[in-house]
Amino acid sequence: MRTRITELFGIEHPIVQGGMHYVGLAPLAAAVSNAGGLGTITALTLGTPEKLAQEIARCRELTPRPFAVNLTFLPALATPPYREYIEVIIASGVGIVETAGRNPEEYLPALKEAGIKVIHKCTSVRHALKAERIGCDAVSVDGFECGGHPGEDDIPNMILLPRAADELSIPFIASGGMADGRSLVAALALGAEGINMGTRFLATREAPVHDNVKQAIVAASELDTRLIMRPLRNTERVLANPAVEKLLAIERAKGAELSFADIVDKVAGIYPKVMVEGDVNAGAWSCGMVAGLIHDIPTCQELIDRIMRQAEEIITRRLAGFLAG
Ligand SMILES: Cc1cc2nc3c(=O)[nH]c(=O)nc-3n(C[C@H](O)[C@H](O)[C@H](O)COP(=O)(O)O)c2cc1C
Repeated sequence: MRTRITELFGIEHPIVQGGMHYVGLAPLAAAVSNAGGLGTITALTLGTPEKLAQEIARCRELTPRPFAVNLTFLPALATPPYREYIEVIIASGVGIVETAGRNPEEYLPALKEAGIKVIHKCTSVRHALKAERIGCDAVSVDGFECGGHPGEDDIPNMILLPRAADELSIPFIASGGMADGRSLVAALALGAEGINMGTRFLATREAPVHDNVKQAIVAASELDTRLIMRPLRNTERVLANPAVEKLLAIERAKGAELSFADIVDKVAGIYPKVMVEGDVNAGAWSCGMVAGLIHDIPTCQELIDRIMRQAEEIITRRLAGFLAG
């Protein structure tokens, strides 16, 4: 399949693995890229620019194909050294960066000067248009369904994607709720030129996380996510668990008085406990509604092959069949 996204990134299939804290490490990024998609290393998980350089080198040993690095700009307890991360990315010759969290404008000149393609992930048409204006090459449009940070507008992809298609000139991929060939065909029909998946790639064999995490996703239905940190305007969609229910009870009790300190023990430092130790009830961790469509733990190759096969079948048989006669 050829789209402006496969052309832009030099990949075989229009399927991207979005940055994921404690998940987007070399084994997963390389597995996605080897399967013909675009894998992504999540810079901040590495903790220091030096360790990111090592992870990029490790990924290079695992795949000859293009992969990306994600740079997430979110409220953090201590601001990460973004400039140094960017220097490492440029020096390592990585050709694609996924930015997320807020406007990457101040870092764009350095990335563009180095010939790096930038795809900015955002949750609204106005932010997508801003990304286009400041010179991003593509955007990843994250609908309300998505795991992680869906923003504060609550617009699902059925509306958000055609709205993006109406306004954008640069290519965009659909993110949030994508799981299979049906998702890919729907995204293409709505104007996107590919898909970005988080939660679906988390439940793959190569995702370097504890098996409990993968089993929790397989066991979850589309009803099992919750939105936290809404009163702080830092909304995150996470998998429901007892710690998350407690957090939500605190949010309800505190109302408009809620501060980050009230819930910090349930959201900070949780990822190593969940992803490495397998304590899936340790606190809040991102998960999309798409968990309801995830029933197995395939390899990335099996998953991507299956998506492409199903998409082709839908386009050439089911959809073409409606027109025949
Ligand atoms: C466990 C997990 C961790 C994530 N961490 C990040 C992150 O650090 N930076 C980022 O930009 N997006 C992050 N995301 C969002 C994904 O890149 C992607 O946009 C989102 O998962 C898409 O929705 P889906 O889960 O329905 O596929 C994360 C998602 C998950 C599930």
